[in-house]
Amino acid sequence: MRKIGVLTSGGDAPGMNACLKTVVEMSYNYGYECIAFRRGYKGLINGDYYKITKKDVEGIFNVGGSLIYSARSSDFKDIKYQKIAAENVAKSGITALIVIGGNGTYLGANDLAKLGVKVIAIPATIDNDVHSTESSLGFDSAVNNATNMIDNIKQTMQANERISLIECMGRYGGNIALYSAMASQADIVAVPEDPLDREHIYRFIKDQLEHGNNSPTLVVAEKQYNVYQLARDIEHDFNHECRAVILGYMQRGGRPTVKDRISAIRYGVAAVECIDAGIFNVAIGLSNDKIITTPIAEAVQMHSNFRQDLYESFKLLNNPRNKA
Ligand code: F6P
Repeated sequence: MRKIGVLTSGGDAPGMNACLKTVVEMSYNYGYECIAFRRGYKGLINGDYYKITKKDVEGIFNVGGSLIYSARSSDFKDIKYQKIAAENVAKSGITALIVIGGNGTYLGANDLAKLGVKVIAIPATIDNDVHSTESSLGFDSAVNNATNMIDNIKQTMQANERISLIECMGRYGGNIALYSAMASQADIVAVPEDPLDREHIYRFIKDQLEHGNNSPTLVVAEKQYNVYQLARDIEHDFNHECRAVILGYMQRGGRPTVKDRISAIRYGVAAVECIDAGIFNVAIGLSNDKIITTPIAEAVQMHSNFRQDLYESFKLLNNPRNKA
């Protein structure tokens, strides 16, 4: 029987399981057996795979995480391990491999394609930093999680008249911070695409306090500041209580949103349809809400899908100059 392989790789993302279930069901619907590799590229290197059935994926559609585990593999950057992986793929007898993950996963898929493995890549990362698509699985869920938490934090900070400094995930991108700051009506957002120095942040807080906002909310994307230290400094320098909160993994766990569930189905269906049509080495994505495919070699070359237009709107709304 013909076979399709599947793996989930990198940081997990809500919607990975929904997509896995779709791929498994579509494979059998199209007359393929489905083979799951555990722990992303580690499973390829170790030849760790099994036949996954429709029964195995019952009940996982609306659950976060990944049934078949997800992992980052530093070994896989080494051509020696890539070759071992390609040999194991050949031994498994699959027609093609569907990889579900973020930009590191895409780089790995491109390496495999160069070694002759037929791949299809599906974007799944809360960071939304796969540039060949408008939307990666898990991003909408993470933004909703972050927004709900920021809403809650704002309420308690307002009651206690405290400044808050809230750090979102996003790796090297500001998408989660931007969307959740907008949706929760935060007062300022700091993203790596437009780094704000301490002077800027201080000027902004001063302006907010002077205009009667006793609990300004600052949302910052990770890896830019030591938020605990910055909060201590702000508290000292403004003589105004300030709290730092790192939202962390609470953004990444939990049930996928409706948007991510529907994208998971669309991506999974498109991936198996590509394989069945003999189309390989492409990344599946969305553009203007339509399914598109981009050659994987091009997908890994594409740059930032940060929504500069949304960022500009946010700034217009929150620029101190615009405050009465
Ligand atoms: O890529 C997803 C992500 O959650 C990033 O936002 C974050 O920087 C990173 O993974 C955390 O990685 P780890 O799970 O290895 O701590």
